[in-house]
Amino acid sequence: MKIRKPTREIYVKVSALLSSAFPKSRYETKLVEELHENDTPIHEWICIHINKVIAYVAFSNAYNGSEVCGLHLAPIAVAPKFQRQGVGSELLRFALRQEAIKESPLFVLGNPKFYKGFGFEHCTIPTCPFDKENRHFLSLRNTTATRFIVGYEPEFGQG
Ligand SMILES: CC(C)(COP(=O)(O)OP(=O)(O)OC[C@H]1O[C@@H](n2cnc3c(N)ncnc32)[C@H](O)[C@@H]1OP(=O)(O)O)[C@@H](O)C(=O)NCCC(=O)NCCS
Repeated sequence: MKIRKPTREIYVKVSALLSSAFPKSRYETKLVEELHENDTPIHEWICIHINKVIAYVAFSNAYNGSEVCGLHLAPIAVAPKFQRQGVGSELLRFALRQEAIKESPLFVLGNPKFYKGFGFEHCTIPTCPFDKENRHFLSLRNTTATRFIVGYEPEFGQG
């Protein structure tokens, strides 16, 4: 298995992977397609296994007002056939070591069972606009001391 950044030619495979990993919703596929179309600055990596894209992860800016205050980890996805075999963990461990990621505060909305193994902890502040009580909102290296609603890139839609 190889991990690398996707090229433009690979984007269509990334969309196919996201559609298979999130079969009930177009949200994640549309989100990544729009981030690509708009050239929104993101950090992203894919896992390749025998010429197939089997996993994807992206990070985009998190905002406090107009100021960047960290990165949102979203989405991460593994092809259904390859889930629960350590692929998602390997991709995330790789991403967390990268220069652009390794010192930044990180936020993620997701299943604590998966993210707690990487050092993410329940986030009290800031508040996530998509999860008003922050039930599934986690952070890493977050030293926020004031109350605010964390901002996302516009492609994520309205919270
Ligand atoms: C969530 C996801 C990225 C995890 O990747 P993965 O390769 O399947 O996960 P790993 O094999 O590395 O799992 C590591 C641990 O995370 C936890 N975990 C992974 N997926 C889980 C799930 N669906 N429910 C509960 N715990 C889960 C488990 O503790 C697992 O260890 P175990 O298999 O020994 O119990 C992947 O399953 C996926 O793409 N799911 C569908 C899309 C999705 O929900 N993405 C996340 C939201 S953006």
